[in-house]
Amino acid sequence: MQFKVSQGKGLRGEITIPGDKSISHRAVMLASLAEGKSKISGLLEGEDCLATVEVFKKLGVSISKEKEEYIVEGKGLQGLEEPINPLDFGNSGTSVRLCAGLLAAQEFSSTLIGDSSLSSRPMQRIIDPLSLMGADITGSEDGTLPLKIQPSDSLNPITYSLPVASAQVKSCLMFAGLYAQGVTELEERVITRDHTERMFKQFNIPVEINRLKESNLIKVENVKHIPPQDINICGDFSSASFFILAALITPDSEILIRNVGVNPSRIGFLHALRHMGANIELQKAGGSVEPTANIIARTSDLKGITLNTNLVANMIDEMPAFFIAASLADGVTKVAEAKELRTKESDRLQVMSEALNSFGVKFRLERDGILINGLGKEGKFKGAEIDSHGDHRIAMASSIGSLRTDSETTILDCLNVDTSFPNFIEVCKEVGIEIESI
Ligand code: S3P
Repeated sequence: MQFKVSQGKGLRGEITIPGDKSISHRAVMLASLAEGKSKISGLLEGEDCLATVEVFKKLGVSISKEKEEYIVEGKGLQGLEEPINPLDFGNSGTSVRLCAGLLAAQEFSSTLIGDSSLSSRPMQRIIDPLSLMGADITGSEDGTLPLKIQPSDSLNPITYSLPVASAQVKSCLMFAGLYAQGVTELEERVITRDHTERMFKQFNIPVEINRLKESNLIKVENVKHIPPQDINICGDFSSASFFILAALITPDSEILIRNVGVNPSRIGFLHALRHMGANIELQKAGGSVEPTANIIARTSDLKGITLNTNLVANMIDEMPAFFIAASLADGVTKVAEAKELRTKESDRLQVMSEALNSFGVKFRLERDGILINGLGKEGKFKGAEIDSHGDHRIAMASSIGSLRTDSETTILDCLNVDTSFPNFIEVCKEVGIEIESI
C-alpha cells in the first residue's frame, strides 16, 4: 500500500486519535490474568493489539466485543491453557516481549513467532534475565524469534539492573515476577514508560517504586489472585505526535487533539519541541491512572537544538517525527545516545536518514544518532518517493513531512500503519490533509 500526499496549508480541526498501544496490550494481558470479567473501553484496534487479543484467545481466554467495549473473562494466573499452535505476535515487539514473561512461568510449553520484521529484532535482552530466573527459554542462534519456552519447576526472583533502557524488558520481568517465589527487584537507570507499574496498581497488584537519585527501583512479588477491573484507555500520545508535527510545520494551522495520554514518561517529544520554540498548549482533561490532556498545536517557527539525551527514552517512538521537525527548523539539531532506534520495527536511524536524503535534507548519520541541518522556516522538502520499509512510524512521519514538499510525495510500503493507527488516513482528512492510499 502507498500513500500519496499533497502540500499542506491551513490545517484545522478537533480530532480524537485511537487508544494507547502500550496501555492496550497491558490491559488485555492483566484482564486475562485476573479472575472474572473485566471491561476495556478505548482499546486500540490496531493489528498489534489485536494480535495480543488473539494470543490470549489461543490461551483459552474468552474475549468478546459488546458495543464499544471489550469484555475479557479472565482465567486467573494459573488458568491459561496450552496453545495448540505457535503463538503469532505479528509485528508487535511489545506483545511478544511482555507475554514471554508470563509464558515462561506456565506449566505448559509455547512457541512464540512473528512477522519478518519482528523475527529480526533482539530477544536476548529478555532471554538472559528470564533464564536467570530459572525459565527454560531459547531463541534462534542470533537471539531472535522463534522463542521456545518449556515449563520449569518455578521461577526465582532476581535482582536485576536493566542493561538497556527498555520498558518492554522491564515489563516482561514484572510479569514473570508475579510468578516468582519472592520479591523481584528491577533497577532502571534510565526511566522508561511506567504503564505496567500504573496498571499493576490499578489491578491491586502490590508494586513498590523507589525513585533513587540516579535510578528507579521497582519491586514486584508473587501474587495469588488478581481482581478484575474496568479500564478506560486514553488516546495514544505517539499517534497524536504526527498531528502535533502536522500543525507545527504547516502554514496557518491549528489542531486540537482530544483526550491524549500525557504520562510524564511519554512526552519527551513535547519538551523537545517546546525547546525548539513550538507553540503547543495542554489543557488538562483528567485521567486518574494515566493523566490526559487536550493538546492544541499551532504553526511554529522552530530552531535547531542539541537534544537533551535524558529525553531520548521518553520520545523513542516519536524520533521519526522529531527528525522531520528538526529538518524544517532553523539551524542544526543534534541527536545522540539513540542507538536503540536501530532495534525498532526497522533500523530507524538508517531508514529515516534515507527518507531525509530523498527529501533533500543535509545530515550526518552517526552510530548512535544524527546531526540534521534544518532547512529553516521558509524551507521546503523536495517532492519524493520515500520507502518506509514497512515501518508504521516512518510511513506516518514521512506522510506528514510531505505537507512541506514542493510537489506531491509518495510513501511506499504503508500497510503496517494498521498496526498502530488503523484510521490514520481518515483522521488526516479530518484536519484537511490531502492524502490518498492506493
Ligand atoms: C513499549 C516500549 C518501547 C517502545 C514500544 C512500546 C512498551 O520499546 O518503543 O513502542 O509498550 O513497553 P522498548 O522497550 O524496546 O524501548
